[in-house]
Order: sequence, then structure tokens, then C-alpha cells
Amino acid sequence: MAPSGPMPRRKQSRKGSMADVPKDLLQEIKRLEDLFTVDTAKLKAIVEHFISELAKGLSKEGGSIPMNPTWCMGFPTGNETGTFLALDMGGTNLRVCEINLPEEKGEFDIIQSKYRMPEELKTGTADELWGYIADCLQQFIEYHHEGEKLDKLPLGFTFSYPATQEYIDHGVLQRWTKGFDIEGVEGKDVVPPFEAALEERGVPIKLTALINDTTGTLIASSYTDSEMKIGCIFGTGCNAAYMEHFGEVPKLAHMKVDPQQEIAINCEWGAFDNEHKILPRTQYDVIIDKDSPRPGQQSFEKMVAGLYLGELFRLVLLDLHEQPHVKIFEGQDVSALKKPYSLDASFLSDIENDPYENLQETHDTFNAKLNIKCTKPELELIRRLAELIGTRSARLSACGVAAICKKKGYKTAHVGADGSVFNKYPHFKARGAQALKEILDWDQGRDGKPLGRGNDPVEILPAEDGSGVGAALIAALTLKRVQEGNVMGIRDPEGMLKGMKASDPKSKQVAPEVK
Ligand code: BGC
Repeated sequence: MAPSGPMPRRKQSRKGSMADVPKDLLQEIKRLEDLFTVDTAKLKAIVEHFISELAKGLSKEGGSIPMNPTWCMGFPTGNETGTFLALDMGGTNLRVCEINLPEEKGEFDIIQSKYRMPEELKTGTADELWGYIADCLQQFIEYHHEGEKLDKLPLGFTFSYPATQEYIDHGVLQRWTKGFDIEGVEGKDVVPPFEAALEERGVPIKLTALINDTTGTLIASSYTDSEMKIGCIFGTGCNAAYMEHFGEVPKLAHMKVDPQQEIAINCEWGAFDNEHKILPRTQYDVIIDKDSPRPGQQSFEKMVAGLYLGELFRLVLLDLHEQPHVKIFEGQDVSALKKPYSLDASFLSDIENDPYENLQETHDTFNAKLNIKCTKPELELIRRLAELIGTRSARLSACGVAAICKKKGYKTAHVGADGSVFNKYPHFKARGAQALKEILDWDQGRDGKPLGRGNDPVEILPAEDGSGVGAALIAALTLKRVQEGNVMGIRDPEGMLKGMKASDPKSKQVAPEVK
């Protein structure tokens, strides 16, 4: 009898066949497979080197990976309350949120607005950048608090670039990443010009914490899941944060803090292997680096992050076209393919998502976007290349996660992840999970259960909103510390509370009271 009711849904999959692919293209596919495949032994070697580089970054002499202490000291308890602003300066958007942490443990309410980051701003002047951000904050406050007399609102500012933080309300930009190139910001504290722009406009905000998106992700995720040990971003850029004990951070030994005290470390692991000792770089990775605004930096990030995946793909196809012995896109106008950074990671996602055996959607996308009409064998090569680039990204990304787990001795853990590649790139999660299994030699899941979703000892899971809720929580944790007189890593504790509702017990407004 036919089963009644809804049938279990299976995700469409494509078998694909190389039967019609001519020899020269098959040979190229094989060459690309060799170039882009990272086998288990190599993954393991990368992880071992990664572990030593993480430790080096924490040492006094330092290394390539910055391992920036964030002055976010410990996880939230779930009992944080109050109203906070959060600002997220991402690559494409600027998001402003007002977050209310109510009495109920682990809950939150959020209202938010999104503003486009004009592309020119990324390479404009510092004044334009801070002015634009302050204008957006002003607009948000005027819209949501029209006619109210406000005390200063505490703000958690998610600034997702490498910054050394002597204090939580301070951050010297080490270098721009993700294609930003604004003069006069690198090597300087970003907080004073930001605060000056707010002051000029009379915006009632007090920056309480400058936060990296990974730290926000770690804290937001642990707010709802106490197994969360690492916060990761796999998006335009790639990075992670985790909690470390002071005892493991020799570069902070002079502070004589209890070795058991925890502090979140923003790894900035995008800089892993800047010395080119271990990562299997291809000639295409070399070109990406050479032509980037900051050659020699963010070596790992340039092989795995969303900003670069489409560009890698473009460079390979162009190279194949230019090789006389490879017959690809013959007689076609490839001028559109010659434009740097014209293809983004979503272009690759679309190719990998094409469910049709004849790759009709890929054919149409190439035609529409690049004005190239592909033959069936060319489409097969294109699909395989997208798979290779996407798979390499997922497997190398997993190396960073495995390295932190091994360094910390975590046999089981949840890892909170966010970012466009993690959320949208097909199979990224499954490919990452497979790589973790190979690296960490699992043969069974938690409690002897079979491996698989829900049972894998270390799982990379979708995170809570790090740059919103995470930023608010870190602002809350910081204020709580200051109110309790624990002012380590706070530049100006009195200044932080000045003009804020909590510092005036008679104020009728809701206080950002932190329990
Ligand atoms: C930045 C990090 C950030 C990551 C993810 C990298 O380019 O340097 O600070 O966490 O991107 O957004």
C-alpha cells in the first residue's frame, strides 16, 4: 500500500556526469582537484601548526595571530537586565539596535534599523566614516525616542576589524581588513573620533564596550546555550573568539591577575600562516594576496572568507581560458570575466545550488552576468571548481575550530557561528563537520551514539545575534563590573557611568541596572 500523508522530503541532489567532458578539460579538472583538495593528513598538520601559533600569539614575543585580549571577562549568567544600544559596522550595512534584557533569564527584545554603508565610505576619509555612523545613530534615537528627555544610553559597538584593546572602551585598529582602506585610522584608537562625532551632534550615547563580532557571537550564544565555547564568523571575513584563562596568557602576566580568571580572546585568526609555512596556497591565492590592499596579511582569511571565494573562482577560469592548450570559452567575449571582484560568494552558492543535471541555471547565470554561453563540459568544470573552492574553505575553516578545541582540551563543545558563508553557502556546515571528524578522529558520537547532527562531539551551530544581543550583553557585563568596582580593563570608570541612568538612583527612566 502506498504510504499516506506527507512523504519525507529529501533535498534535491545532482548526480552529475563527466562522460561528455573532453580529455583536455578532464585533465584540468584533475589538476584543479589536486590543487584545491586538502586531505586528512594535511588538515591535521595545519591544526598542529595552528595550535602552536595560537599559543605564540598569547606569548610575550607574540606571533602572526594577534590573539587580542578583549577585556570581556567571563560569560553572562542570563540574569543581565537593562536597555542597551548596539551598533554593528559591517562590510555592507550599518545596523543600530536597541535591546532590552528583561528579568526572564536568557530572554531579550530588540528593535533595529539597518542603513546601507555607501561603498565610497570604505575608501573615503575617517571624518566621513565617523560622521556617517553618528548620523545614523542620531536618526535612530530621534525616531525611537522622539520628544523624550534622555540620559546617556550605553552602547556596545561591534567593530569587526583587528584592534588591540588596552581597555574594553578603547581599540587601536591594527589594520583594515575586508577591503576597507580608510586613511588615518590604522594605528589609532577609533573611540575618540567616534565619540567626538557623537558629541558634535549632541547624540546622548556613551560607548561602553568596543566589541569584535566574534566576541559578541561567543557571548550571545553562551547566553542561551551554556555549552557554547567558541564564537566564529564565516562571512566576508573569517575569525573566532574564545574564553582563555589569564594563566595561559603570558603577555598579560605583568597584570598579576588570578590565573583562573577568564578573558575572551579575539584571535584574529585570519592572519594565520602569514609566513606561508603550512597552508596549501595555489598560484591563485598568491595573486589575490598580491593584488589586495594589504599584501602579506590575512593569509588564512584570503583562502577561506566570502570576500575572496568568487575572486578565486574568477582567477582560475580566466587562467584556464588564457592557457592555449585548454579549450574553454573559445571565441567568447570574456571581458566581463576580466573585472576583479566582479563575482561574489553568492555567485558560487548559486552554482552549487543548481539542482539540474544539465546545469541550466548555471548556464543562464553565466550568460546573464558574464555574457558567456557555456557548453555542457564547461558547465561540469565550473560546477566542480565551485565545489572545490567551497569545500576547501569549509575544511580549512574547520582547522581553526579544531585547533582551539585541542588547545583548550575540549572533547565536546558547541561552537556558535554566524556570517554569510556559514548561513548561506551550500554544504558549508556538512563539509566542516566532516573535516572535524577527520581531524579529531571520531568514530562515534556523544554517549556512544552514531555520529551526525546532534551527536557530533564538537558541533558548529548557528549563533545568536552577536553584534546585537552579544554587544548589549557585553555592555551590560561591563557596566555591572564598573558598578561593582571591578574596573580592570576600563579606561575611565567614572566617565563611563557619568550621565547614565544607573548613576542617578532618582531617575524615573528604566535604569540599565545590571544584576
Ligand atoms: C576581521 C575580524 C572579524 C572577521 C569577521 C576579519 O576580516 O579582521 O575582526 O572578526 O573579519 O567579520
